[in-house]
This record gives sequence, structure tokens and C-alpha cells, in this order.
Amino acid sequence: MNFELKPLSLSAAAAEKTDLLVILVPEAFKPGQDALSQVLAQALKAEDFSPKAGRLLSTYRQAGVGTPRVVYAGAGDGTARPVRQAVQAALSSVRPESVKRLTLVFAAAEVSAAAVRAAVQAAADGSYVYTSTKPRAEARVLQKVTLGLAATPNAEQRAALAQATAAVAGIEFAKEWGNRPANHATPTDLAAAAKTLAGRGSGVQCEVLLPRDVAKLGMGSFMAVARGSEQELRFIVLRYQGAARTQAPVVLVGKGITFDTGGISIKPAAEMDEMKFDMCGAASVLGTFRALAELKPKINVVGLIPACENMPDGRALKPGDVVTSLSGQTIEVLNTDAEGRLILCDALTYAERFKPRAVIDIATLTGACVVALGAVRSGLFATDDTLANALQAAGDRAQDLCWRLPLDEDYAEGLKSNFADVANVAGRAGGAVTAAKFLQRFAGKFPWAHLDIAGTAWKSGSAKGATGRPVGLLLEYLLSQANHDAHQPTAKASVSNKAVAGKAVKAPAKAPVKVAAPRGKPSVTKKA
Ligand code: BES
Ligand code: MN
Ligand code: ZN
Repeated sequence: MNFELKPLSLSAAAAEKTDLLVILVPEAFKPGQDALSQVLAQALKAEDFSPKAGRLLSTYRQAGVGTPRVVYAGAGDGTARPVRQAVQAALSSVRPESVKRLTLVFAAAEVSAAAVRAAVQAAADGSYVYTSTKPRAEARVLQKVTLGLAATPNAEQRAALAQATAAVAGIEFAKEWGNRPANHATPTDLAAAAKTLAGRGSGVQCEVLLPRDVAKLGMGSFMAVARGSEQELRFIVLRYQGAARTQAPVVLVGKGITFDTGGISIKPAAEMDEMKFDMCGAASVLGTFRALAELKPKINVVGLIPACENMPDGRALKPGDVVTSLSGQTIEVLNTDAEGRLILCDALTYAERFKPRAVIDIATLTGACVVALGAVRSGLFATDDTLANALQAAGDRAQDLCWRLPLDEDYAEGLKSNFADVANVAGRAGGAVTAAKFLQRFAGKFPWAHLDIAGTAWKSGSAKGATGRPVGLLLEYLLSQANHDAHQPTAKASVSNKAVAGKAVKAPAKAPVKVAAPRGKPSVTKKA
């Protein structure tokens, strides 16, 4: 699919050669003298159309308009969310197979970067079709999307188009792997998919660890989950280098359970097919790397994907078994269906070797998170407020929302075990939080965040399919970090007492320094 951004007034739009012309009409719309504006002004006056988000008015072979099909779509206040709703509604009002070329015209004087991105992503989302295991299905028909602006696109809008195009490629990569059935997306298949992202000037390198490598490392917890399956596990290591080698990377860890039967603690049959989506965390990491390879931001990123199946078998892990994780902590497996945390804990320990600036794991981890937040927001947990705020803000900007949940120590109470350092489940209450508390034990050495995407990674029912979330959030976060780094003063320039904008800036009072306490003693804060 091809996206372009160009100046296109409403009078010029009337002559555009396209299959569907969508006019995005904000509440602040001011009609001109052209044919489209005139019809719109009359419809608004007669209240047959409203600029409220998602409201539509369709016309056919309108006088003075070259293209037969015009849809006026209410775009509310013109911000990202109503623009997305408008494009969504307009696309679902026509037969998708009838639109090869789509023109979206912003009937507004000013269009934000976020609105440009929202329009591109909604057009991609509304035209996506899965075909990999449907050889007779018709592929996506939409080929070309033109975004029309009142004025010549500025640098910010052009950058927004580039970002959105890369995000779409990443989201669709994640959707593709999420949607594939488990017999077409084994751990070996996922590793092969990861390898396609590397090389050829992509800035991405990929290394795949085999069962013997993982055994040698001592990932006893990850190996225990994989034991019950005929499919061999894989541990995928991706690296994107966009900044100096010395710069600490952000590490993304994606849960890659290619099918979750629950293991010996087997799940009920209803909707079990949806557990093919249990690798959507992994797919979001792959999708994010796909986008990074296209955009090449100045940042270093590592992707870690433990991939295996969770199956019942004569060799499978049993309730009550105690396994030894890579960290050395022993784990009593009280429920083999709480397998995500068992593979993620070893990946989190492995992440330490990269001396990361932050580690973010992404996992379809708990049904409890679906109960808590539904399909609107992903669950966010973090040990670091700056990281939490940056992720939540990135989600807001990308319209890929998340919501922070707590990590109070009291929630870890139920994870105590009589037979190991920790149990893999606590009671039913607060299940999303207790899962996060389990992971936190393996993330002590770096700023850490956990995104529980159990409710947001895929849709059920007639719209069953992967959403590609949270690729949009992750990409937005990484770009904001790269941008932030670029504007950081160098060590030399940040010496205090220098003049800023003509004003003398006083050196700040020396910050208190935290002094590490010897084992067992509380730490103390000292004035330096
Ligand atoms: N993959 C599931 C979580 C899940 C369930 C995601 C339903 C989306 C929809 C995970 O491995 C799991 O089975 N979690 C258990 C944990 C429980 C045994 C503590 C759950 O949520 O029921
Ligand atoms: Mn499970
Ligand atoms: Zn699972």
C-alpha cells in the first residue's frame, strides 16, 4: 500500500481521480464557494449532516464533482481520535473491494501530526485482510491512499506520514504473525520470521538460540514450559543499532507462547483456539523491529523472544514441580497455565547482560487483566515513574492506550511457597497484579515496565483477529526516546552556571546521594 500527502483544496478534490473521496469535516469547518462545500453547507444547515465524530453523509454522482462517490465524515474537533473514527466509519460504509484508490481530504485549516497518523492508520486498519491460510480469499484491494491538506505539507506532517507508514508496516507484520494458526506459526517459524527482519541495511541483527544453548545458559524455567511439546523451543535475540555502540539499549521482551493449552492444568475447550494469539507480545516486538528498520531512529534496541508451546504430555511440567530459573531462584509451579511468567522470567534475567536503560516486557499474560481493563487499554506496570509516564504518554499520542496498575508489595504475599523461593500463582484476586509481582522479582537490576496486552492484542467474535497492538505505543515511545537523546546536552555543555537565553543560571544545590547499605540494613540518604 502506498501513502502520499499533498496540498488539495476542496475545489481541486472535486476533480480528483479516485474510487472514494472522503471529506473529513471538523466542527470548525468554513465552507468555500466550491461544489463540495456548497452541498456540505446545505446539509449542515438542514441538519442532515453533523461534524460529530463518525457521522456520515454519502452522495453519488454529485453535480460538478468528477468522482462518483463522496463521503462526508464528521471529524469532531479534528484531533486523532475523531479523525480515526471518521476514516473508520467512511471505509466501512462502502464495499471494500470497490476501493483501490482512496482520497482523504482534511477540510480544516490546520492538521496536526497526530491527525495525519490517525488517518493513515485507520485507512490501513480498515482495509487489512488476512490471506495466508485462505488461498482463495481476495487480497487487499486498497493500493493507494492520498491525504489532502489545505496547504503544502509542513516538515512535521511529512515526518508524521513517514512514521505512520512505518507503524503500519510494523502493525501488519504483528497482525500477520498473530493471526497465523499455531501450526503455521511454530517457534521455529517465528525465529525464521525474525531472521527476515535482519540484514540488508536494516540495522537489525538476529540471533536464534536453540534448546541446547538455552540449556547451557540455565533457563530452567523456560525449558520446563517447552518440555510438553513436540515443537522445539527457540530464543530469539534481535538487535537494532541506530546509536553509538556504547549507548545503553532499551530491551523489549515479548511473550512467545505459540499455543497455550494450559498444559496439564488444561484450559476449557471453549475459545481455546484463541490461544494461538498467545504470542502477540512476541509479534509486537517483531513488528516494532520492522518499523525501526524502516525509520532508522538514533537509538539502540534489543528484542528478546522466548518462544515455545504450552502442551500437556507425558513429559510435561506438572503442578507442584519445582524448577530453577536462570536467576537461580526456584519456582513452584502450582498451575501450569501460568506459563507466560515462567518463560518471561528467564528472558528478563537474560536482559541484564545488555546493561539496559530500560526493559519493557509485552505479554498476553492474564485473563484478569481482561476483566480489569477490557479491550480498550493495556495494563501497564512499572518500577520507574519516568518510564511509566513516558509509556502512558506514548500510548496517548499513538492512540494505543494503556493504564497504570499498582505494584504494592502486599500483592506479593500470595506468591509465597513452602517448597521454593516463589510460587508461580497467587489466589484469584488481583491476578494481573500478582503476575506482575512475580515478574518484578526478576527485574530488580534495571528500570522495568510490563504491558499486559491480554485484552488488547486481539479481537474475538466475528471480528476475530490480531490488532497489532501495542506496536504503535512502542514505536512512539522509542522515537520519543531517540528524540529526547538528540536534544540532551553533551556532558561538556551541561556544566552548570552557564548562561541560557541570556540569563545566568545558578548551579543547583548538590542533589542528595543515595548510599548503598550493607546487606540487611536499610539504605540511607546523604547530602553530598
Ligand atoms: N495466555 C493466558 C492469559 C489469557 C487468558 C490471555 C485469556 C487472554 C485471554 C495465560 O497464560 C494464562 O493462562 N493465565 C492464567 C493465569 C492463572 C492460571 C493464574 C489466567 O489468566 O487464567
Ligand atoms: Mn496459560
Ligand atoms: Zn499464556
